[in-house]
Amino acid sequence: MKLLITGMAGFIGHAVARRLAGQGHEIVGIDNLNDYYDVSLKQARLDDLAGCEDVQFVRLDLADREGMSALFVEHHFDRVIHLAAQAGVRYSLENPHVYADSNLVGHLNVLEGCRHGQVEHLVYASSSSVYGMNEHVPFATSDAVDHPISLYAATKKANELMSHTYSHLYRLPTTGLRFFTVYGPWSRPDMAMFKFTRAVLAGEPISVYNHGDMERDFTYIDDIVEGIVRVLDIIPQPDPQWRASESGPDSSSAPYALYNIGHGSPVPLMDFIRAVETATGREAICDFQPMQPGDVPRTWADTEALFRATGYRPRVGVEEGVRKFVEWYRAYYAI
Ligand SMILES: NC(=O)c1ccc[n+]([C@@H]2O[C@H](COP(=O)([O-])OP(=O)(O)OC[C@H]3O[C@@H](n4cnc5c(N)ncnc54)[C@H](O)[C@@H]3O)[C@@H](O)[C@H]2O)c1
Repeated sequence: MKLLITGMAGFIGHAVARRLAGQGHEIVGIDNLNDYYDVSLKQARLDDLAGCEDVQFVRLDLADREGMSALFVEHHFDRVIHLAAQAGVRYSLENPHVYADSNLVGHLNVLEGCRHGQVEHLVYASSSSVYGMNEHVPFATSDAVDHPISLYAATKKANELMSHTYSHLYRLPTTGLRFFTVYGPWSRPDMAMFKFTRAVLAGEPISVYNHGDMERDFTYIDDIVEGIVRVLDIIPQPDPQWRASESGPDSSSAPYALYNIGHGSPVPLMDFIRAVETATGREAICDFQPMQPGDVPRTWADTEALFRATGYRPRVGVEEGVRKFVEWYRAYYAI
């Protein structure tokens, strides 16, 4: 198959490309290599893929309408894994416009490319942040998610709505994946585990929000990749029997699907910090802070729908996952 991976220089995109390389596919990856975080880490991920002969990289911005259209004309992609986006909840309070460009205009350009290129399946990244003010746990795709609390979350919810429209109008099969706090080797420097590890190894304090009273459904990168790869082969089909009045928000008469990918068990933030202490062999200096605007106190994924569809349950626990991250971090930064 010919595959497009957007955001290939990113944390998850790099891991997906690594996994799919060498399996007989032709892979084209795009990324704009923006400087939201250390560009040398993005470049290092691309360097790590440089030896894969079946992986080609094109530097391209999702918001470049002509460039994206030309990409889809040049390559006849069978399937698309769309992971490029402006990520981060807190940054969406500082720089909202970049979220509109990358996540709204960019997503539209991907949908248009898939529509005109007659792509057989678009799999795209959504986020657990769409659950916003939802209090029903574990978070299920059948829950209503109409109360986002950050612009980032609103753009991810918008991606699901836009995708449904294209699935309905143009019969483009789309699958949205709501990722729950992904971590592991090569992860993002703006995320808690990276920041905690860096600070703990440097003997510096770590900011612990909501005075430590937080829970996250931390999901190891290999589990996320396994979910993406399995879902890629499960192409949603139209369902003419479907009735809106008898169904939830996660199904449709259109070829449209939505899954959570999370570990399925929330971990208290202080337990996560203890795992970082164990893996580094150092004590954390905690600087307790109030809740950050845009953040939610707890996430917890209901992963039954993913299990029913793919037969897969994420399996790497937090102690093992954090240990693997710290090993990678020490090797990468030679600490
Ligand atoms: N990591 C997580 O915990 C998590 C959780 C939920 C959802 N997600 C989503 O998963 C996807 C991948 O996240 P990640 O953690 O790998 O983030 P990342 O920032 O490491 O990767 C995203 C990549 O997309 C690229 N990109 C951003 N805007 C672009 C644009 N306009 N044009 C081209 N490339 C662009 C960036 O340069 C980056 O390399 C994103 O859509 C993110 O919103 C991630």
